[in-house]
Amino acid sequence: MLIMEEQIQSLLREVSAYTAADNQAVEAFRLKYVSRKGVIGELFEQLKQVPVEQKKNVGKILNELKVAAESKLIELNDQLESVASTSTDIDLTLPPIPNKVGNLHPLTLTKYRIIEIFERLGFNVADGPEIEDDWHNFSALNFPENHPAREMQDTFFVEKKKGEGTQDMLLRTHTSNVQIRMMEKQKPPIRAIMPGRVYRNEAISARAHCFFHQVEGLYIDKNVSFADLKQTIFHFAKEMYGKDIQLRLRPSFFPFTEPSAEIDVTCLICKGEGCVVCKRSGWVEIAGAGMVHPNVLKSCGIDPEEYTGFAFGMGIERVTQLRYRVNDLRLYSENDIRFLRQFHTSSLA
Ligand code: DAH
Repeated sequence: MLIMEEQIQSLLREVSAYTAADNQAVEAFRLKYVSRKGVIGELFEQLKQVPVEQKKNVGKILNELKVAAESKLIELNDQLESVASTSTDIDLTLPPIPNKVGNLHPLTLTKYRIIEIFERLGFNVADGPEIEDDWHNFSALNFPENHPAREMQDTFFVEKKKGEGTQDMLLRTHTSNVQIRMMEKQKPPIRAIMPGRVYRNEAISARAHCFFHQVEGLYIDKNVSFADLKQTIFHFAKEMYGKDIQLRLRPSFFPFTEPSAEIDVTCLICKGEGCVVCKRSGWVEIAGAGMVHPNVLKSCGIDPEEYTGFAFGMGIERVTQLRYRVNDLRLYSENDIRFLRQFHTSSLA
């Protein structure tokens, strides 16, 4: 049976050396070696005549040949497939078409920047409800009942007071409500900023909207002074707009602070020369501020003899307007993709 063994060995060499350039050559291989009527099939037929003492040995190498032919067939098919997929006209060296990814809203970008600046001064970030009761939005902030100061802020009421023990419910007109909530639940020292959305019953125009955003700031501790307020806001302005920015404080009135001030920065749109945004004054108001009124501290159970503090309320839209030169408040909420895309962080560098 040496002849048969030699035949098998020579077939093994043929199989391992076989190459196929196309499907036909692969099919020819299959018919010749792998199909039942192929040479290997024939050899299995002949194996029946092999004397018993040699059968084991010949059968073993014949089986090896069968396995080798079958795996070669798989290999040839795989090769043809990978050739087919790389030989198309696709230019794999071309750069991909960039996906359009979303970006943060300009007001969010400004809010994050404000938080970053104050966090480094040790301020926490706090949050409060947008649907608020009269106590937190007005009374605890030293707005006496029926006082004309309440009319300063055109309020959207959600539910009118329904008798003793109930209160007017409203959309908060400022973020100052969160000051009260903080002081009610936390003992001084308190150092926090409170960003959020506020609502006023105003006709919508380029300069006014029925909702907008503020960041409230509050610092209560022993010996907090007006100088601390001034330096804190000055530091903020320099971090936000650069070291050349100037600050101006004008005396003002808020029921919840005494003394009170309005804070202006130099107009960055005209560099102080006078334009429509600063109404030709060279200055733009960014916040209201003052020393927390003793009545407000008392309303929250804090002793005004022991503690003092400052507070401020800053308009996020205004800070953003100076940062990105946006001239119409309505743009912030119209969701015009052409407006929003301009604030992609990569295009702001
Ligand atoms: N709540 C005021 C407003 O909406 C802004 C403000 C002024 C907040 C003075 C303050 C402050 O905390 O001290 O017009």
